[in-house]
Amino acid sequence: FTEGKYDGRFLFMNDKANTRVARVRGDVMKCDKILEIPNAKAIHGMRPQKFPRTNYVFCNGEDEAPLVNDGTTMTDVSTYVNVFTAINADEMTVAWQVLVSGNLDNCDADYEGKWAFSTSYNSEMGMTLADMTASEMDHVVVFNIAEIEKAIAAGQFQELNGAKILDGRKDANSQFTRYIPIANNPHGCNMAPDKKHLCIGGKLSPTVTVIDVTKLDTIFAGAELRSVVVAEPELGLGPLHTAFDGKGNAYTSLFLDSQVVKWNIEDAIKAYAGEKIDPIKDKIDVQYQPGHLKTVEGETLDAGSKWLVCLCKFSKDRFLNVGPLKPENDQLIDISGDKMVVVHDGPNFAEPHDAIAVAAAKVNPLSAWPRQDAMWAETRAQAEADGVNLDDYQDMVIRDKDDPKKVRVYMSSQAPSFSLESFTVKEGDEVTVIVTNLDDIDDLTHGFTMGNHGVAMEIGPQATSSITFVAANAGVYWYYCQWFCHALHMEMRGRMFVEPAGA
Ligand code: CUA
Ligand code: CA
Repeated sequence: FTEGKYDGRFLFMNDKANTRVARVRGDVMKCDKILEIPNAKAIHGMRPQKFPRTNYVFCNGEDEAPLVNDGTTMTDVSTYVNVFTAINADEMTVAWQVLVSGNLDNCDADYEGKWAFSTSYNSEMGMTLADMTASEMDHVVVFNIAEIEKAIAAGQFQELNGAKILDGRKDANSQFTRYIPIANNPHGCNMAPDKKHLCIGGKLSPTVTVIDVTKLDTIFAGAELRSVVVAEPELGLGPLHTAFDGKGNAYTSLFLDSQVVKWNIEDAIKAYAGEKIDPIKDKIDVQYQPGHLKTVEGETLDAGSKWLVCLCKFSKDRFLNVGPLKPENDQLIDISGDKMVVVHDGPNFAEPHDAIAVAAAKVNPLSAWPRQDAMWAETRAQAEADGVNLDDYQDMVIRDKDDPKKVRVYMSSQAPSFSLESFTVKEGDEVTVIVTNLDDIDDLTHGFTMGNHGVAMEIGPQATSSITFVAANAGVYWYYCQWFCHALHMEMRGRMFVEPAGA
């Protein structure tokens, strides 16, 4: 984001299973950094800061665990914590972390760069389904970024596993957090492009709770926590996520009703204030059980008003039966008129979870790689040390001076051949093959697959790529190009001779 709008530089994605976040470059559509986040467990909700630019990516830790998770305490839940993380988006490092009460589900940020928000379905700190749904109310956590930054700058943090941690739990009574009560087990957390209204999906409650974020300073100054709630329309069963158009309307997925409900935010505020007005403008059946839904750039100041994509979790009978694992159903809905109209069903392999829609003009990927790209800076440095100029495209097979088990093989590719028809290594060698693709025209990607070694790589136009494997067994092995690149693509292959050890 730059000033509340997409700038097309990066995409970020979370890996819940491994508590990691990946950054993808918009210019080449490749991951350039992966950050493993310490202390937190299971990154679920994740959103970039919207304003003034994406200095931070906010990450929710969903699973509770002891802060020092070394086996000394395991079943004593009172030692469990949850961790909210702000990543420095430019460096892909942990900027800071905040300990919270309850777990963290979905998150978002405001349009003034002041706040981040996270829903929690387990304020109870329950370990069973019954315990996680026991309370009448859970909460949304509000993070006060200026207060957090002030405390970090003043050195008021504890350091653990290289991360600076502040205590924002309820008992700590800090100025880092506030906990606004929300009906039990809320889910979606979506900031409207009117810069003012945060919408929290009720999930177990048929309501969406609307918070006026311009009033949040008052609760940090002592005002009653629920005083910032300005609407709570009853929309239907199982409200999960909310998308927005550029005209003041919101679109909420109703998981149990299998519907999308269109409602007007200002009308919901009037109804909450007592006016006799129905905020619901339309409902449409979707097939079936929708989760996330997206308008084009609806989480930015450029929110579109033409299309809504609804990601249905169950397709059931919508498509030809392809086995017990059914596809899911991404439905395209025309939202340009008063009534929503489903115009397309798209089967999708289970389970894609979330998506964003970005105007094509905002993303301008390259057709060929710049030869000096940072992606292979390490390989370039190694080549220089080996006396190989990657831009002169020399073929070279070099045995490492310090570690004679390591062999580096330099070659180039140009349709339909590799510059090396064969190379020789010894049994047990750790082989790194470095290929530079001389082709520079659109869409001319080569591949390098070494037969029976479990390795394959892509080499885009003008790219240098490398791959490392162990040549464990003596013999003849063919390598080949696995991208159809030429009429003689099948002939684009060569041999690796692996000499027996001791030969
Ligand atoms: Cu190169 Cu196929
Ligand atoms: Ca709960």
